[in-house]
Amino acid sequence: MPTALVTGASAGIGRALARKLADRGYRLVLVSRDVARLEAVATALPARSDPHEVLAADLATVAGCHKVERRLQDEEDPIDLLVNNAGIAPPKPFLNNPVEVEEAVLDLNVRAVLRLTHAALPGMVARGSGGVLNVASVSALGPGWLASTYPPSKSWVLAFTESLGRSRHVRRSGVRMTAVLPGYTRTEFHTRARIPAENFPSWMWLSADRVAETALRDLHRGRTVCIPGIRYRLACWALRHLPRPLVLPWCWDPSGTADPQRSTAAPHGTESAC
Ligand SMILES: NC(=O)c1ccc[n+]([C@@H]2O[C@H](COP(=O)([O-])OP(=O)(O)OC[C@H]3O[C@@H](n4cnc5c(N)ncnc54)[C@H](OP(=O)(O)O)[C@@H]3O)[C@@H](O)[C@H]2O)c1
Repeated sequence: MPTALVTGASAGIGRALARKLADRGYRLVLVSRDVARLEAVATALPARSDPHEVLAADLATVAGCHKVERRLQDEEDPIDLLVNNAGIAPPKPFLNNPVEVEEAVLDLNVRAVLRLTHAALPGMVARGSGGVLNVASVSALGPGWLASTYPPSKSWVLAFTESLGRSRHVRRSGVRMTAVLPGYTRTEFHTRARIPAENFPSWMWLSADRVAETALRDLHRGRTVCIPGIRYRLACWALRHLPRPLVLPWCWDPSGTADPQRSTAAPHGTESAC
């Protein structure tokens, strides 16, 4: 029975991925900070002869990463699929956050992805099988969301996945690496980041189930980049190919309001802040 380790499995896209993987016969190792929520998710998953595991860890800290790295390096009970999903956005524009808040975004969105991949990949390459699914974002393609460390953190996730996933070292071993770039997806993400989700039209929203299903399908097909939803595939094409001066007027700039407390107020236009 294959085993998958999913970070950020207590909510949103991570929980949906855990469910889909359990339906496909995986045993799960569920990681986030909240052990009670993880246990509730584990209990709701289809049962396996070997029970699902929960592992509480704060991945924004090196100590939390170490805990998960040790599990990834356990050769007696190897991990076949690593899902780097846990991620956050800062609650305010760059100049309104203490530097520690900005740093925590990079600690979780970048350093944890780097460390866990570094722990998992050598074993997978040696075994000649396995996969790494990294959850990035449409905002990785920039410049849709200004004044935030979040899009650059996701640009790193995308570039990192393409860099490793397309390398001979990884491809020749049979290990698959995919970056999934979701657009707006209904989860707890926007509440945590204080983004006014109610201001975005319903057609912009994806469900976590749909993102999870498309991501697993594209990982299975060996695609390095996965963009769920035709609208977001078109938006990504535009972000990749249109000249920057044409795109910039459509960007969401939450630093535009004078009052820092209201600086995450209503975005304008059809910005791609996700
Ligand atoms: N929702 C969107 O519109 C959207 C769009 C594009 C990309 N994404 C990306 O999708 C991924 C999943 O986000 P989501 O939308 O599902 O958000 P979510 O509903 O807020 O879930 C975030 C998950 O990450 C965990 N987490 C947060 N901080 C953590 C930490 N320091 N250590 C360990 N786990 C932590 C949370 O659990 P605990 O709080 O219990 O630790 C939770 O399980 C993120 O990488 C996000 O950037 C989301």
